[in-house]
Amino acid sequence: MATLIAYFSRGGYNYVNGDIIELKEGNTKVAAKKLHDIVGGDLFEIAQENDYSDDYRECVAQAKKDYLEGVRPKLKAYPENIEKYDRIYLGYPNYCGTMPVAVFAFLEKYGFDGKTILPFCTNEGSKMGKSERDIKNACPHAVLKEGLSLHGADVQNCDSQLKEWVEKTRN
Ligand SMILES: Cc1cc2nc3c(=O)[nH]c(=O)nc-3n(C[C@H](O)[C@H](O)[C@H](O)COP(=O)(O)O)c2cc1C
Repeated sequence: MATLIAYFSRGGYNYVNGDIIELKEGNTKVAAKKLHDIVGGDLFEIAQENDYSDDYRECVAQAKKDYLEGVRPKLKAYPENIEKYDRIYLGYPNYCGTMPVAVFAFLEKYGFDGKTILPFCTNEGSKMGKSERDIKNACPHAVLKEGLSLHGADVQNCDSQLKEWVEKTRN
């Protein structure tokens, strides 16, 4: 059974525990790499062709506008042989109460009929938001497993949460 870990993540300035600090590596990327150590498979970064600003406030304004306008950006790259994967772990930060538009674009492009999607979402308090509903709408014929919410600021210590979730959603 082939596994893909597809994630969106943005380094640069971000909001962490009430402060704006610079992240060398995005929180979701840190979690995705830890998950990769646990489940193996292939890692793929979902990145839009035109990155959002490194500046936190500017990024929020861009992301909000794109979400409200229903933008579906072109991605920098697309995975090869996507049809070979049965399980897709999908990682993203909570943006504006749901997923970044690049993740919508990724899901809508492939649909993942009959495949299993396992979402994990890093955030600063909104948990999964309405992202699971949005995944269901984008991929109505996929099997959607219960998602995992991770506090972005604590992502360096999320190993046991990831392991528990992997076990719980194994079947
Ligand atoms: C554009 C933008 C919008 C965000 N919106 C939310 C939100 O609605 N709720 C929330 O809890 N956190 C929100 N956050 C915080 C991120 O979800 C959180 O910092 C996440 O861990 C960042 O992941 P990354 O470093 O992988 O990009 C937002 C951050 C950005 C940059």
